[in-house]
Amino acid sequence: MRINFKNVDKNFGLIDALKDISFDINSGDFVFLFGPSGSGKSTIIKLILSQLQPSAGQIKIGSYDLATTNKKDIDALRKKIGIIFQDYQLINDKSLEENIALNMDIAGFPSQQIPGKIDEVIKKVNLSSRRFLYPSQLSGGELQRAALARALSTDPKIILADEPTGNLDQKNSWNLVNLLKDINQKQHCTVLMATHDVEIVRSMGKKIIYLQDGRIVKNLKLK
Ligand SMILES: Nc1ncnc2c1ncn2[C@@H]1O[C@H](COP(=O)(O)OP(=O)(O)O)[C@@H](O)[C@H]1O
Ligand SMILES: [Mg+2]
Repeated sequence: MRINFKNVDKNFGLIDALKDISFDINSGDFVFLFGPSGSGKSTIIKLILSQLQPSAGQIKIGSYDLATTNKKDIDALRKKIGIIFQDYQLINDKSLEENIALNMDIAGFPSQQIPGKIDEVIKKVNLSSRRFLYPSQLSGGELQRAALARALSTDPKIILADEPTGNLDQKNSWNLVNLLKDINQKQHCTVLMATHDVEIVRSMGKKIIYLQDGRIVKNLKLK
């Protein structure tokens, strides 16, 4: 599914978080949202999720213009987006299996489809042996893969990853990024990953939206 921003501004009172942001992410693209802390990456992700409204400009997801889409369609659209965060956001008193089942239940999946789908997604992220464990029993790398399995459980058309490697060591960071790359290639799922990790962005050879102080920097040179 496509993500299109046209001349988008976002202000929080006197703070200009985003200024004149335009980009086109095509269906099946893998794109990095790259920039230092405070440059506006999370704000872009929240706008895509309709958790925030733009102060100006137009945002389209697939064929939907978010400004003119009703709440029911926004909710349906939201279910086509899987999201992972730096801090995983798993539910601590539920096992990996229960975390995924709850997510699928909320998204309206029929209960008889849930066990089979859980098999599939935990296998994909190499956590089949951790199915009945709780978040406190998982390592950082496993926690983020668990969050990814949960995101994948609803067959998303877009995956948004907000600094997903922020709490991971190098080995686990690469492991996660390679999983995202694999999912992008095999499932034709659009991936937008926010990061300030220059090594990852440089080595992957993917498209980059480079932000600084809420603006897109045109001439990107990675040092
Ligand atoms: N809810 C908010 N209220 C006020 N300012 C905000 C809010 N959310 C973000 N900002 C400001 O917007 C700018 C961009 O923030 P953010 O999108 O979180 O950056 P990043 O994710 O790149 O670190 C920052 O200056 C931040 O302080
Ligand atoms: Mg952020």
